[in-house]
Amino acid sequence: MIVTTQELFKLAYGHFAVGAYNINNMEQTLGLFQGCVSSQAPFIIQISKGARDYAKVKLLEALIRGAEELYPDAIFAVHLDHGDEAACYDCIDSGFYSSVMIDASGEPFDGNVATTRRIVERAHAKGISVEAELGMLGGVEEHIKVDEKNAMLTDPDEAAEFVRRTGCDSLAVAIGTSHGAYKFKGTQSLHFERLAQIQQRLPGFPLVMHGSSSVPIEEVQRINAAGVKLDPSARGVNEDEFAKAVPLGVVKVNIDTDGRLVWTRVHREFFRDQPEKFDFRDPGKIFIAEYAKFIAHKNEKLGSAGQLAAVRAAVS
Ligand code: G3H
Ligand code: 13P
Ligand code: ZN
Repeated sequence: MIVTTQELFKLAYGHFAVGAYNINNMEQTLGLFQGCVSSQAPFIIQISKGARDYAKVKLLEALIRGAEELYPDAIFAVHLDHGDEAACYDCIDSGFYSSVMIDASGEPFDGNVATTRRIVERAHAKGISVEAELGMLGGVEEHIKVDEKNAMLTDPDEAAEFVRRTGCDSLAVAIGTSHGAYKFKGTQSLHFERLAQIQQRLPGFPLVMHGSSSVPIEEVQRINAAGVKLDPSARGVNEDEFAKAVPLGVVKVNIDTDGRLVWTRVHREFFRDQPEKFDFRDPGKIFIAEYAKFIAHKNEKLGSAGQLAAVRAAVS
């Protein structure tokens, strides 16, 4: 069942975070639905601009509709990830999306406000909610000085002004995460003090964490043992920190890279160990099962596992 993103946020706020997982193909879609149903978790399917180009919008939507029929217990929202203005309008007009993200975080503050406000007006007219972004998801490398690190994080006063002026429904905040496999070197924590200050200025307002893959060391080691050359010192977000972010207002946690690592590990190991094989369905089946396991595990860490019955009762 497709629900609105705001409904999920209302139920989640302060209790758990909803996993927002990107899809690009059939195997990911099947694994995602299986993993969320087995762990009894509501979820958000995210479609990036890159995914819309790669798999074609019509096919992705048909995949989601098909999976919805195959897994009638699943409860989820459909979200545009990192949209520009054109992609947002396209999704708003399509009627298929629960929410869109306008990523104008590269613009100066006033430009970000103006762009986001335009999207909000058009989205709200159709009952669609809008996620916006403020701050730089630059990652926090050890060599960056403390002052520079803090300048990259979302400013709490600006966040409050931004939400007031744009009317956006949720805000992606920079609290030390970044996209991709190379986030940190060594062990580093999220900036909970900054998150708490943002929550103080925006009580009850849904906050979003992008760049939340954990880049598990065991996964990197297995992938490298199968011929890849990932930097073995790369680290992501400690999954045990999700639980600390939830009481501070985080309701949506974006995870993509870790799923790509599962894909790479499964396929690299499969063809390394069975070089005579060439039917892509053989590793494909393993990937779907491994991806489902991976999703169920993330949902446990996010606290969304086991929430499906309560969500169903609230939305039906
Ligand atoms: O934050 C971006 C997501 O990981 C999507 O990545 O633009 O390569 O599809 P993509
Ligand atoms: P990761 O690269 O950490 O998986 O982040 C994904 C993301 O933020 C998608 O919007
Ligand atoms: Zn992102």
